[in-house]
Amino acid sequence: MRTKDGSSSSCPLKKLKYLRQCDLKLGRLTFSRTHSVLVDVDEFNCGKGAVPQGGKDMWHGNFVKMPCSPSSMMVVKFGHKQQTSRWRWEVIFKKLSALAEKTTASAEDVEKAIMKYNPKYKGQWSFDALYSFVKVIPKTENDFTKLFPKIAALALKLPEYVKKGLPLLKKGNTAAVTLSQVQISCLLANAFFCTFPYRNATGATGEYGSYPSINFTRLFGQWSSRKKEKLRAILHYFHVMTDKLTRPNGLVTFERRCYKATDMPNWRCCEEKMNELHVASGGTIETEGAGLLQVDFAASFIGGGVLGSGLVQEEILFLLNPELIVSRLFTEKLGDTECLIVTGSQQFSRYSGFGDSFEWAGPHRDHLGRDDWDRQQRRILAIDATNFKHQRDQYNMTNVTRELNKAYCGFKRRESDEPDIATGKWGCGVFNGDPQLKAVIQLMAAARAKRGLAFFTFQDKELKKGLQRTHHTLVTDGATVGQLYSLLENYCAVRKASEAHVNLFQFLSNTSRSRL
Ligand code: AR6
Repeated sequence: MRTKDGSSSSCPLKKLKYLRQCDLKLGRLTFSRTHSVLVDVDEFNCGKGAVPQGGKDMWHGNFVKMPCSPSSMMVVKFGHKQQTSRWRWEVIFKKLSALAEKTTASAEDVEKAIMKYNPKYKGQWSFDALYSFVKVIPKTENDFTKLFPKIAALALKLPEYVKKGLPLLKKGNTAAVTLSQVQISCLLANAFFCTFPYRNATGATGEYGSYPSINFTRLFGQWSSRKKEKLRAILHYFHVMTDKLTRPNGLVTFERRCYKATDMPNWRCCEEKMNELHVASGGTIETEGAGLLQVDFAASFIGGGVLGSGLVQEEILFLLNPELIVSRLFTEKLGDTECLIVTGSQQFSRYSGFGDSFEWAGPHRDHLGRDDWDRQQRRILAIDATNFKHQRDQYNMTNVTRELNKAYCGFKRRESDEPDIATGKWGCGVFNGDPQLKAVIQLMAAARAKRGLAFFTFQDKELKKGLQRTHHTLVTDGATVGQLYSLLENYCAVRKASEAHVNLFQFLSNTSRSRL
């Protein structure tokens, strides 16, 4: 069907398949060698809700080292140049209990507590953003002085809420972990109070050098309006999760999927044809695309700059759905043929703006419904595009194939029935990608995975028109993924030979018919 401007109209959003329409055949909640479940599956399957699973502390390289572990020690100085070793949780417990007993606590109280069990960072960590934040936000919005003691009380529940070892999702291993929303909130309360051991070093050094940061230190320093809005979103989440009467307590599953390079398609030989495509210049992945497989334009260190100053698509997503932040605790840096899929996280906030204009816009009520494992019917796919320092670097087939494989890792079906995909200008903001090339790459990966795409161009009307036309041409010409791959090889050769900018959509519409 053609629209007035000659472009093909895209498939309506409602024709795409949503998670709620998928026959997931979940059955009873079960754990396995590759799926750790931190709630008691028997209790859960009997309808008794998400009760923490018992277990023992795991202080070794395959698990998150917990702040309450009996093995977590710290050096305490006393007297003149004397020192002793103390159980770190005892110090944390003393400080946070004193805070939790108060009806109100100041930013200074929070700082003092945190520095007591992180003495090494005295003079290095700044809390100016937290101080300014408490001053500027009216108490009518959220009385933070009353909230801090509640977050401290939630953090102290760690030994009760998370008894079983929390496995690290390590590079090269496909594995999953399922936690309850309350367990996640307790882990995040500990991140807020910077209790996780060995998680403060910056850079690629130390035991957790290949993991993202998790303690909230950076969020509290270097005041800016970005920090203000980030804290509003995160503290709203804690406001909901510290109210025992109303807090949700379903489950959330975090799954790392890893493939070998040999599992990836031989793109030149793929015979699949283009799948359904919905293109819109209005709307966003997280709103109109909610319930589809929502793509997170991720960093290889999951969550990117959410705890620092970054505030683009991934960081915003993590602020709206703070449960995603906990993935930073256990997800090692993603490799080229790996992705992270999160099923069941809840959206707590709304927003407006982007980057410097981002503002927390109030609470969000989730209406997605829940699956048989009591997970929100939301699935988020984190895939990290390549960060192109020089734009021209993307026009070579090694890099094109890397992006095809990365998208395919996330899009590839694991179950017979899976939702379609909601995406957009993946890798085309901070990471400098060419929106036309990235759109074609995602079309190819989705076609190979036999899934439909909803593509939100984020107000880019030209891209919308161009993508609709190109998709229409490819469909009417019966182009296969393999043929498109060959056309991309030609395109890269043309780009290499000519300094002039050659538009990919134009190139495809000029060449596809003659070469297919
Ligand atoms: N829905 C649809 N499109 C969007 C949305 C949305 N909600 N938000 C933004 N866009 P970017 P990247 C469009 O720069 O280049 C983070 O720090 C918008 O046009 O977030 O892959 C990560 O942690 C925007 O310019 O993605 C990584 O470190 C474009 O999508 C890094 O950024 C790209 O968004 C990833 O950068």
